[in-house]
Amino acid sequence: MEKYVVVLAAGKGTRMKSKLYKVLHKVCGKTMVEHVVDAARGVNPAKIVTVVGTGAGEVEKVLANKSEFAFQEKQLGTGDAVMTAKEALGDKDGATLVVTGDTPLFTTDTFNELFKYHAKKGNAATVLTAEAPNPFGYGRIIRDDQGNVLRIVEQKDGNPEELKVKEINTGVFCFDNKKLFEALKHVDNNNAQGEYYLTDVLEILRNSSERVDAYKMPDFSESLGVNDRVALAQATKTMQRRINEMHMRNGVSFVDPDTAYIDAGVKIGNDTVIEGNVVIKGNTEIGNDCYITNGSRIVDSKIGNNVTITSSTLQEAKMDDNTDIGPNSHLRPKAVIRKGAHIGNFVEIKKAEIGENTKVGHLTYVGDATLGKDINVGCGTIFSNYDGVKKFHTNVGDHSFVGAGSTLIAPINVADHSFIAADSTITKDVGKYDMAIARGRQVNKPDYWHKLPLSKDKEWE
Ligand code: UD1
Ligand code: CA
Repeated sequence: MEKYVVVLAAGKGTRMKSKLYKVLHKVCGKTMVEHVVDAARGVNPAKIVTVVGTGAGEVEKVLANKSEFAFQEKQLGTGDAVMTAKEALGDKDGATLVVTGDTPLFTTDTFNELFKYHAKKGNAATVLTAEAPNPFGYGRIIRDDQGNVLRIVEQKDGNPEELKVKEINTGVFCFDNKKLFEALKHVDNNNAQGEYYLTDVLEILRNSSERVDAYKMPDFSESLGVNDRVALAQATKTMQRRINEMHMRNGVSFVDPDTAYIDAGVKIGNDTVIEGNVVIKGNTEIGNDCYITNGSRIVDSKIGNNVTITSSTLQEAKMDDNTDIGPNSHLRPKAVIRKGAHIGNFVEIKKAEIGENTKVGHLTYVGDATLGKDINVGCGTIFSNYDGVKKFHTNVGDHSFVGAGSTLIAPINVADHSFIAADSTITKDVGKYDMAIARGRQVNKPDYWHKLPLSKDKEWE
């Protein structure tokens, strides 16, 4: 039987108190609606239709190539929202999964289980339910004495007896597609919120003698609906645990998985060790046998094998195999560290390539530069790249030596095998095998001590 999916994502999400559309809030670096759509894609549906509302261009952008869209002009309720998908799906024979876009924790496995159960039972509608530790805010599943599902009652409509029920509507349903759209015609808005509730479809189908049933999940963990920032943080915690456990099963060690914040989609090789208080975000790939210590933050970067990152920040940077950095260094966009290079502490590198086996050990700024192999850059070197208007580039050739405290004022070319004496301010190119020295000469004034006014009152020795 063909499968279809409708994702409800048109609600603004007033309870989030945000400029941002609710379903665009991120859980582990990925928008909630993408989590839902990606899990739904796993069931191989013939079509996914996401219902979006006014100003939801951003939702369409994040789901481009993953979903079709239906437009709900006014947010009149979840029933009305599903109705907008009628044009795309109304004439199809098959089973339709309806999911709310604010439930980011559902897995493909769960959706598959629901489809299977729905088909096996020959149901017209199957609602996915769970026992909630705190059911407040969710629709409650009302059953008769034999346990048959009668209807769903929303928080704001329930009487005290009904609100005691802990079995909740997770917001996920499987419907016979044609029966769904037929029943939706009969949904009205006579309720506390004046909305057209999707949940009313169950009672409507039941009243026309269709099979209505619930598939109850063994635990609540996937069912969390995110309506406010408290739930957003809870969803993030659960998703984080899931992501970190996936990495551990793949051979990554975590010293404290509770405080390692790894985005969905980050790749990490085996035998890599991640200490606590590490953040790894975005489109980042980390190889095998790396060691990442506490206080490191790595965003959109590519890290090879056997790399050590000690309490450092990397953004859109690349570190090849057998390199190391830190503590307290910063790779900014387009920093590229070639094989075997060493970046020590308090070093900032921006839009610069550091060649193989080159060492930039201490307190140095390298911006807009290309450094060859086997170079030693002394402590406190400055690649002065900016004249207040424009940026300029510096090249340093292989096997060169840049003495401590030097300033290279770009644009400059320093040839291979050249030597810059410590504390030089380099403003002219340096040739191959040359030594450049550019600093004030030292002058010693004999017996100056006795001319100092202080020396009369005080012996310093
Ligand atoms: C809904 C269910 C509730 C269930 C809960 C699960 C209804 C009436 N209630 O309640 O039984 O326990 O989800 O999390 O269905 N949306 C639209 N258009 C609208 C209204 C909502 O697209 O007009 C979308 C929202 O973007 C959201 C989803 O539907 O992604 C659910 O809406 P929300 O207002 O969060 O419903 P709940 O009150 O959480
Ligand atoms: Ca909700």
